[in-house]
Amino acid sequence: MTGKLAVILEASQIFWTESGFVHIVIQYNNMRCRWHVNREEHVGCEPEAMNISDEQIWITGGGSGLGLACARRFAADGAKITIFDLDDEAATERASEIGASVVKVDVGDEASVASAVESTVAYSGAPRVLVNCAGIGLAARIVGREGRLSTDVFSKTIQVNLIGTYLMMSHAARAMLELETLEDTGERGVIINTASVAWQDGQLGQAAYAASKGGVASMCLPAAREFGQFGVRVMTIAPGLFETPFPSRLGMAEEYALLASQIVENSYLNGTVIRLDGAVRLPRK
Ligand SMILES: NC(=O)c1ccc[n+]([C@@H]2O[C@H](COP(=O)([O-])OP(=O)(O)OC[C@H]3O[C@@H](n4cnc5c(N)ncnc54)[C@H](O)[C@@H]3O)[C@@H](O)[C@H]2O)c1
Repeated sequence: MTGKLAVILEASQIFWTESGFVHIVIQYNNMRCRWHVNREEHVGCEPEAMNISDEQIWITGGGSGLGLACARRFAADGAKITIFDLDDEAATERASEIGASVVKVDVGDEASVASAVESTVAYSGAPRVLVNCAGIGLAARIVGREGRLSTDVFSKTIQVNLIGTYLMMSHAARAMLELETLEDTGERGVIINTASVAWQDGQLGQAAYAASKGGVASMCLPAAREFGQFGVRVMTIAPGLFETPFPSRLGMAEEYALLASQIVENSYLNGTVIRLDGAVRLPRK
């Protein structure tokens, strides 16, 4: 093992094996590693996972579907949840059981995002994790019946899904970058955005939706490259078809939440898009 070896942990982390050899546990590149003292060889490493207990987690679109499942999962893991949703009434009703705070916001409107983020930071601090789930799924042909164009659908979808994700990411990241790094992993935070498999398999009528999700997928790597040096990771989940109001069934929202939680835990996941689709490839329509 070469490079910067960090501290040997406390004495309780020194082990004598049955054959009389000594293993010590050291902290190395944010991993707990066993070192075989007698043979001077490395035995194995155990990466540290981010502990989100008592940390602030923000979830946009957390009043329904995938976002609500994330809110429930992270709350069960001991995090403090704030839901940002346009439909604050439904969000308040559904999230009351987990004691989440709810902030009304239109993610596609920068003034609304700026004010929601500012007031939430003032009230409860910056987020350790942001999960962007707010989104809409409008469908329209590019050239519809009698030559009707669907520019309005395109603009609205880009505004909410792409610009909305960018706005929440940028405003939340600015606050996140002010946080102290965590002792166990050396990280400041994690941002998880939501694309869709339509990013790659857009169906007929999904030009707007696919374009918006393609944008979300494409900005993952540059965002991760920008924030990586500050200890903030950026990941994107591209779900297939889920059991939520939009559309009906297949994957379970809890499976999305499980992946979000696994992303938060695994410090080496960064700058990539994960399809969560059970091998589904969307057909033409
Ligand atoms: N459900 C699926 O099968 C599926 C598949 C692929 C991608 N997705 C994506 O996952 C995300 C969540 O999908 P879902 O099925 O949970 O949707 P959903 O409709 O159940 O929930 C979306 C939430 O976003 C909120 N929202 C909508 N517009 C908003 C705005 N402008 N500002 C703030 N909040 C707003 C809604 O009020 C709602 O609570 C979306 O981005 C969607 O495109 C979902």
